[in-house]
Amino acid sequence: MLKFVSLLLALSFCQGLQHNNIDDYVEAESVFQASKYGSLWPLPQKVQISEVSFKLTSASFRIVDAKASSAGPSCSLLQSAYRRYYEYMFGSAKKQWGSKNNRRSDPSDLTELQVWITSPDSECDGYPSVTSDESYELTVNQPVAVLKAPKVWGALHGLETFSQLVFEDEYGAKSINATIINDFPRFQHRGILLDSSRHFLPIKVILANLETMAMNKFNVFHWHIVDDQSFPYLSRTFPQLSEQGAYHPYTHVYTPADVKMVIEFARLRGIRVIPEFDTPGHTQSWGKGQKDLLTPCYSGSKPSGSFGPVNPILNTTYDFMAQFFTEISTVFPDGYVHLGGDEVDFTCWKSNPDIQKFMEQQHFGEDYSKLESFYIQKLLDIVTSTKKGYLIWQEVFDNGVKLKADTLIHVWKGNQEQYQNEMASVTASGYQTLLSTPWYLNRISYGQDWQGFYKADPQDFKGTDEQKKLVIGGEACLWGEYVDATNLTPRLWPRASAVAERLWSAKNVTDIDDAFNRLSLHRCRMVERGIPAEPLFSSYCPREYKGV
Ligand SMILES: *[C@@H]1O[C@H](CO)[C@@H](O)[C@H](O)[C@H]1NC(C)=O
Ligand SMILES: *[C@@H]1O[C@H](CO)[C@@H](O)[C@H](O)[C@H]1NC(C)=O
Ligand SMILES: *[C@@H]1O[C@H](CO)[C@@H](O)[C@H](O)[C@H]1NC(C)=O
Repeated sequence: MLKFVSLLLALSFCQGLQHNNIDDYVEAESVFQASKYGSLWPLPQKVQISEVSFKLTSASFRIVDAKASSAGPSCSLLQSAYRRYYEYMFGSAKKQWGSKNNRRSDPSDLTELQVWITSPDSECDGYPSVTSDESYELTVNQPVAVLKAPKVWGALHGLETFSQLVFEDEYGAKSINATIINDFPRFQHRGILLDSSRHFLPIKVILANLETMAMNKFNVFHWHIVDDQSFPYLSRTFPQLSEQGAYHPYTHVYTPADVKMVIEFARLRGIRVIPEFDTPGHTQSWGKGQKDLLTPCYSGSKPSGSFGPVNPILNTTYDFMAQFFTEISTVFPDGYVHLGGDEVDFTCWKSNPDIQKFMEQQHFGEDYSKLESFYIQKLLDIVTSTKKGYLIWQEVFDNGVKLKADTLIHVWKGNQEQYQNEMASVTASGYQTLLSTPWYLNRISYGQDWQGFYKADPQDFKGTDEQKKLVIGGEACLWGEYVDATNLTPRLWPRASAVAERLWSAKNVTDIDDAFNRLSLHRCRMVERGIPAEPLFSSYCPREYKGV
């Protein structure tokens, strides 16, 4: 009897699900139409695709430097990108052997993509920055296609776009239509946050995601490298931090060589690496290897044995921070570091008699956000002296900490109305800002949640044009409580692709059906390139993911 009831329950539950599925199906019935923009993702600013198509063969097609280019064969960044994209378009040399697509070339084939860096300084050996020129122009025509970009950064994006224009005709031959594209990003800061503290992320997973970021024209890897749970960053100055604070001192750490590899891999794809060392909260793991750094909490008149945020009243705290951030400033070449500053819990500070005494001396009254500001201001001075700019989470601004004019305020809290008000008030104060609130991809739910990510726009708030210009972009965040190497990539992609288009393409690119058509193809392209990007909805890819 009990069995029967639960069977009935199960049946009605399934019917409920099925009903949902039918709704989804009706909603998405118009899906598998070809977009007039093919599989381009994110959509370029200006695109004209004609109906004239050319064939390409792996035997005759080459990506070469244009004669007039300021970056020649010595630019290994470009040469390695040519190899990468050639393989994406035709498969590796091994795969081509005996492949059907190896038809003989024909005089009407497209045989060359010429890459022309037009500015005297190509920036080939430099690092991308928040002011990098990422624009490019792509003309596909007979007999050659030309990709023009002022800097290598635009050329990298243009190569990705070119590879997205290549498709297979019904006989499996590679083809491309005559096309003119003029492209540049809407926002300068288009980031992905990965969290390597809640779970350790093997380098291989980080690199695979940098690769996928490049396919989506993301340009910032926000590396939330340490937090309460673990401290995997191996510091040369303070090796005891990871010795004591990592999940494992040898297998779950990022050595200086690992960090270097991540930064160079990212650079070769036009991606900045911005590390986050979040203080004074979120620092439990720091305390294991650095005595007296954290505040001892009290239970009545005695220390309870637990610890709170960084202890802001000791000079040794600032000596430590100065040495630590001096190291960080040399290890990470980017002009910015993220200093966190979110979710500081005052309970422990309140319990500590020394802190209470200090509050009195400083005339802070009972306002512990003043103590937080005291700490943050000293930290900001330290980081400024290392010649870095900084990003901070919105609480630091909310608490009225005095900030340098070029501080970037990272908005992450609240519902839509609240974050829009926050964007309005941050920009009204003249600060630059970036948005993450609607893009917490660690939050999962049934259905096509990418559509919600796609509809959010960081400039949708009440404010002047001047205020809107202070919005430099946004970041999709994948916090790590429930994410490790087993599920990171499929959880992130293609959901983050929705954010990629919002941050790259023009503001009026909002057609959700067209987005679905292109994103379905883009997702299959990621799968074909070996990325286990999860499906958007019922469908198939011509070449399914085969596992690892
Ligand atoms: C490319 O050209 C073919 C005709 O050769 C046409 O059927 C197709 O729609 C074109 N593709 C795009 C994306 O415009
Ligand atoms: C901490 O530094 C301040 C300013 O340099 C100094 O006045 C104070 O005496 C120092 N405190 C201790 C305990 O050394
Ligand atoms: C967006 O606006 C531009 C300029 O007004 C226009 O040329 C373009 O066709 C529009 N794009 C879309 C997708 O509506």
